[in-house]
Amino acid sequence: MSKFMDWIDARFPATSMWEDHLSKYYAPKNFNFFYFFGSLALLVLVNQIVTGVWLTMSYTPSAEEAFASVEYIMRDVEYGSILRLLHSTGASAFFIVVYLHMFRGLLYGSYQKPRELVWIFGMLIYLALMAEAFMGYLLPWGQMSYWGAQVIISLFGAIPVIGNDLTQWIRGDYLISGITLNRFFALHVVALPIVILGLVVLHVLALHEVGSNNPDGVDIKKHKDENGKPLDGIAFHPYYTVKDIVGVVVFLFIFCSVVFFFPEMGGYFLEKPNFEQANAFKTPEHIAPVWYFTPFYAILRAIPDKLMGVMAMGAAIAVLFVLPWLDRSPVKSMRYKGWLSRIWLLVFCVAFVILGILGVLPPSPGRALLSQVCTFLYFAYFILMPFYTRIEKTKPVPERVTG
Ligand code: HEM
Repeated sequence: MSKFMDWIDARFPATSMWEDHLSKYYAPKNFNFFYFFGSLALLVLVNQIVTGVWLTMSYTPSAEEAFASVEYIMRDVEYGSILRLLHSTGASAFFIVVYLHMFRGLLYGSYQKPRELVWIFGMLIYLALMAEAFMGYLLPWGQMSYWGAQVIISLFGAIPVIGNDLTQWIRGDYLISGITLNRFFALHVVALPIVILGLVVLHVLALHEVGSNNPDGVDIKKHKDENGKPLDGIAFHPYYTVKDIVGVVVFLFIFCSVVFFFPEMGGYFLEKPNFEQANAFKTPEHIAPVWYFTPFYAILRAIPDKLMGVMAMGAAIAVLFVLPWLDRSPVKSMRYKGWLSRIWLLVFCVAFVILGILGVLPPSPGRALLSQVCTFLYFAYFILMPFYTRIEKTKPVPERVTG
């Protein structure tokens, strides 16, 4: 075996990659619950790719056959219903996991120097993931697939001068048609998965270059033993690979319960109108995007002017990219930040959840006002950050990790 590895190592850096990224990658020993979600995101990504490949074997990307081919997968293909529900539930699970993963970043200041690029690659993954989910949603060719895509693509029409031509270019037709379905299929099953996989590699490489942050936000590289190993670090493999299995088991219990017993999740994971085939002549009574897009959809609707609404929605995502430069705090973790940072993070999260709820509900004057207040608070969290992170009193950060 060792001769075989020598042969490989003389031709490919297998052992050095294993050591650099696993057996000699020293991660802080105080990782907590929130540190499960990176590896869980990887797990869900693999689930989406594997089930996606098998679904593609039986799915037909044409306006005439797409809806029926999904029914065929659900009823006739061996294990087809499980494959499909693993994929549809996986989409929602992906966003739950990624939102918790991003929240951890906000909580412990993981985006701060020197991890700005880790965060930016993460944000690029998030953008690609939104595009991937949006395009995947058109494929079952149900009523909500069709009309949801109709609403979102028509938003580009609000852009002055080029708007109309742009929407036509995206659809490849004067209305959403089989042509749109075909290109969304190509992007969903080939182009975007490649982009996402590539970005995940860059994300993890950037992280391993600088090392992981931790709930205390202290730099473990400051204190090393005589061999250069951080005193507060433990080898990722076997310690965290084994610990992550616990997270994986708990996650799979919850995930499989949803797949087997509540795959529609009350209409949030699989929306009711999508059990009816797309019909260009019949608009559903109430069109709402899937839950993971609704906070941004609520921001769009909060602003009466369509173009301004589209710009606000874009800005709500864009502002996350510059987060590392908005936080001026001398400390990373919320454990040592002051009250202002804590209150603003809470306000931001509550506003985000309320926006998410408002985004699924039909509009009313009262809800419009509430969505405007929440949109204001969403942006205030970021815009005021350079000020409140500088003026607040922080607690002293310990030299070594606690606990
Ligand atoms: C497919 C999606 C993603 C995958 C597979 C992924 C994977 C990972 C993994 C394996 C880690 C190391 C383990 C951990 O710290 O939990 C990590 C760390 C990190 N990720 Fe992601 N990630 C994804 C999306 C994102 C997004 C959307 C963001 C934020 C915009 C993000 C920001 C971060 C940050 C800041 C860290 C470092 C955390 C720290 O050291 O405290 N990631 N990611």
